[in-house]
Amino acid sequence: MRILITGAGQGLGCHIATAALSRGNEVLAAVHSLSHVSKEISKLQERYGERIMVFEMDVSDEQSVQKAVQTLSSKEEALDGIVNNAAIMVEREKTIEELDLSAMQISFEVNTIGPMRVVQQFLPMLYRGNEQVIVNISSEAGTIINAFPTNYPYSMSKTALNMFSERLREYLREKDIQVYAVHPGWMRTNMGGVDAPADPRDIAAGIVDILERKKKIYSKIAFIDSTGRPMPL
Ligand SMILES: NC(=O)c1ccc[n+]([C@@H]2O[C@H](COP(=O)([O-])OP(=O)(O)OC[C@H]3O[C@@H](n4cnc5c(N)ncnc54)[C@H](OP(=O)(O)O)[C@@H]3O)[C@@H](O)[C@H]2O)c1
Repeated sequence: MRILITGAGQGLGCHIATAALSRGNEVLAAVHSLSHVSKEISKLQERYGERIMVFEMDVSDEQSVQKAVQTLSSKEEALDGIVNNAAIMVEREKTIEELDLSAMQISFEVNTIGPMRVVQQFLPMLYRGNEQVIVNISSEAGTIINAFPTNYPYSMSKTALNMFSERLREYLREKDIQVYAVHPGWMRTNMGGVDAPADPRDIAAGIVDILERKKKIYSKIAFIDSTGRPMPL
């Protein structure tokens, strides 16, 4: 498969790239900025050579996504998978009185409109692929049933991402392009912190199984966990 991964510079995105490459796939690794490429990404480049292409793409910036798609579509004929992984979590502890509403705008720009923008721009390449799968990395924080009193920007942007995933899934159903919103679990990354129970390498393996259509997924909704089980809404 040829798989595009956003926010691939570190954290879960980098682990998904590693797992996908180790299984023989090609990876288009979109990093937030080329000015600070991580050691992990450099190692993947050394190890896998032309099977990994690293380029800059800020998902909140229309021109940045357009530039990436222009560069890639001339070189790459097709794409089989997209992982919308890039996200931010800001103003997590702020109450409604304390919240800077610009945090809402930037969170939706990165976490919700970012994936929409990437899908919109990369769909022509995806249409030329085979057994295509789109994975939008979501979060349990986006479930209404588990709502708690803060974390407005992150949780609301993920709820909206779940709705986007559901609608896109219906839109692409006839073309047999699968669409999921995947809750990865609480993982040890910069975002999750050191106390998180899950190893992102295990989660990445589950997500690559979903991309490779190796899991039987019986969910009626797009929102699932990394083992393929449906998530509560
Ligand atoms: N960690 C958890 O416990 C947890 C739980 C539930 C869901 N998730 C979800 O899992 C996914 C991966 O999270 P993570 O834990 O790996 O987080 P992370 O360590 O903070 O990594 C996030 C990645 O997104 C990139 N990014 C941020 N803004 C971007 C932008 N505008 N354009 C492009 N890339 C951008 C970051 O690049 P820079 O570092 O260069 O800015 C980084 O590579 C996210 O969707 C997150 O919401 C995580």
